[in-house]
Amino acid sequence: MATDVHRPVTTTKSPSAQPGSAVRVEGLTRSFDGRAVIDRLDLDVKPGEFVALLGRSGCGKSTLLRILAGLDRDIEGTVLVPRRKAVAFQAPRLMPWKRVWRNVLLGLPGKPERPVAERALAEVGLEHRTNAWPKTLSGGEAQRASLARALVREPDLLLLDEPFGALDALTRIKAQRLVDELWQRRGCAGLLVTHDVEEAVLLADRVLVMDEGVIAYETEIDLERPRGISDPRFAELRGELLHRLGVEAPDAPSPAAAA
Ligand SMILES: Nc1ncnc2c1ncn2[C@@H]1O[C@H](COP(=O)(O)OP(=O)(O)OP(=O)(O)O)[C@@H](O)[C@H]1O
Ligand SMILES: [Mg+2]
Repeated sequence: MATDVHRPVTTTKSPSAQPGSAVRVEGLTRSFDGRAVIDRLDLDVKPGEFVALLGRSGCGKSTLLRILAGLDRDIEGTVLVPRRKAVAFQAPRLMPWKRVWRNVLLGLPGKPERPVAERALAEVGLEHRTNAWPKTLSGGEAQRASLARALVREPDLLLLDEPFGALDALTRIKAQRLVDELWQRRGCAGLLVTHDVEEAVLLADRVLVMDEGVIAYETEIDLERPRGISDPRFAELRGELLHRLGVEAPDAPSPAAAA
């Protein structure tokens, strides 16, 4: 897998440069106005691993994702990421003056033809809106178009920043299933920033909690796929993560009852 290296800026093309890792972050610090939002953070993501990142608002999740995406290079420390990566944000960010298929191809190198976009749109169930204008899409459709735009890049790393945050509950469940399917089919590594603990436990191999500028807690999600929220182990993981986020689940046993 080819890699981009941010600081020290010695780009390597050798896949063996980072055996066993799709992402390697060492001692990463990012400060704004003298305040370290990310403070000597370390993180490894394995090839094909899907990781969810939780943390209170303002703790630096989007900052970390933007750094991994190569959108922010004003950093200290070392960040190794695959060269082929794609990002989807909470707002689909489609260009209103370009038809859906042209949006999907936007920024791709070379001169990709329409069928390339059509294939990606079919993968997200949007083949019937290929020629539509973005403003005529529903919120869920726009988000799927945004996913198609990410997939068409054939990423080795898919970065998602609250991609379902603006969707209604039903559309959100469908979009989560779609991401689960796509990730399993594509086999790329993924980092999903979310506020939704259930979403994290449903989708991820590993869930991280960010706090005070570092990964303060992490847990493997040892549940078979497809996962169901009715599984007692699911509730246990959810409760532990909520606890780590400083929220007690309403159905959590009291310390006295658990003793
Ligand atoms: N360009 C910037 N200039 C100054 N401060 C910034 C900048 N970008 C982010 N910050 C600050 O860094 C901190 C982390 O922001 P970030 O957007 O990463 O948080 P977050 O964890 O994604 O929050 P949320 O869950 O609300 O999206 C915040 O205090 C924010 O104000
Ligand atoms: Mg954010």
